[in-house]
Amino acid sequence: MAEVTATLGLTPEQVRLALTSASLAPSVHNSQPWRFRVLPDRIELHPDHDRRLAATDPDGHELRLACGAALFNLRLALQGFGIRPLVTILPGQDAPGALAVVRRGGVLRPDDEMRALLKAVPRRRTNRRPFFESGVDGRHRHALVRAAELERSWLYVVDTREEVARMKGLVRRAHLLQQEDPGVRAELESFTGDRPDATDGIPPASAGFRPETQDEWIFRDFQAAERVAGKDYESNPLVAVVCSHYNGQLADVQAGQAMQRVLLTATTLGLSASFMSQPVEVRPVREELRRALGSMLVPHTLLRIGYSTPVPATPRRPVTELLMEPTNSRS
Ligand SMILES: Cc1cc2nc3c(=O)[nH]c(=O)nc-3n(C[C@H](O)[C@H](O)[C@H](O)COP(=O)(O)O)c2cc1C
Repeated sequence: MAEVTATLGLTPEQVRLALTSASLAPSVHNSQPWRFRVLPDRIELHPDHDRRLAATDPDGHELRLACGAALFNLRLALQGFGIRPLVTILPGQDAPGALAVVRRGGVLRPDDEMRALLKAVPRRRTNRRPFFESGVDGRHRHALVRAAELERSWLYVVDTREEVARMKGLVRRAHLLQQEDPGVRAELESFTGDRPDATDGIPPASAGFRPETQDEWIFRDFQAAERVAGKDYESNPLVAVVCSHYNGQLADVQAGQAMQRVLLTATTLGLSASFMSQPVEVRPVREELRRALGSMLVPHTLLRIGYSTPVPATPRRPVTELLMEPTNSRS
């Protein structure tokens, strides 16, 4: 098994901490589809294709979103150690197969915002519990929109009654189509339920409640507990779509960074969030979603945002399992 080594002026222990931060990123079903190669002058972020969910995420789009989120956490961690991260997305021949390469771009003193985002990394969780009815105020909405913009992406807030109704319809339609797909169902099953000592997947304590037919927004069924009487879902969560301005793998990685910045910003504001990514995963529904957003934006994932009670953390694989051999792929 590969060992964590020093790089970018960091000790092995600091590198381990930085990679631990990266691995706390969200991923579909907590599949953690990332790997890292640590070389003396850089850290490479690679997709772990063995961990792609072939039925749920056929073209690897969500794998790249998750890797983008891990990249954002890694950037923050390096900034926390006083390093300005110099990032190349899709480095090509410089690091074949990598989604991104991070080098040392000099010294940096993290500002208050960066420090707050870094502190939010271990506190951020996907929260599938019902939210309180209180709405998200304009100041907080603005902060979330700004977070996406700072990562060269866009957060489309679903606002009008008509838009909300249309989104609910798209989520429901995509969900029903996925329910008919044995591959999607099998992937969900393999990452949920009681899996003692698992270092990936969604444990029952994080699964929220079992969806019911009268629910307005249809969430995934993570083999969750039956609903406790009186624990109904909020009527009006803030729903927002993480979007990019263009298509392609680079946009996916960039949108993943934006998604993570939005989620961490939400955490710093005391907000909770969960995902409803079904309409992005089912191709014909994704096209409809794209048209619903005015055709100029590329939708990446839907977020439900509001205030809730705390939830436990999901497990992660140890950093040593995420390391690739430090072979220099160019030599
Ligand atoms: C691209 C993407 C899509 C996701 N889609 C869903 C979803 O449709 N429903 C859901 O409940 N969670 C979804 N999640 C959340 C993951 O299940 C969650 O990140 C993972 O279980 C790890 O838990 P954590 O976010 O609490 O660290 C998604 C996450 C990502 C990154």
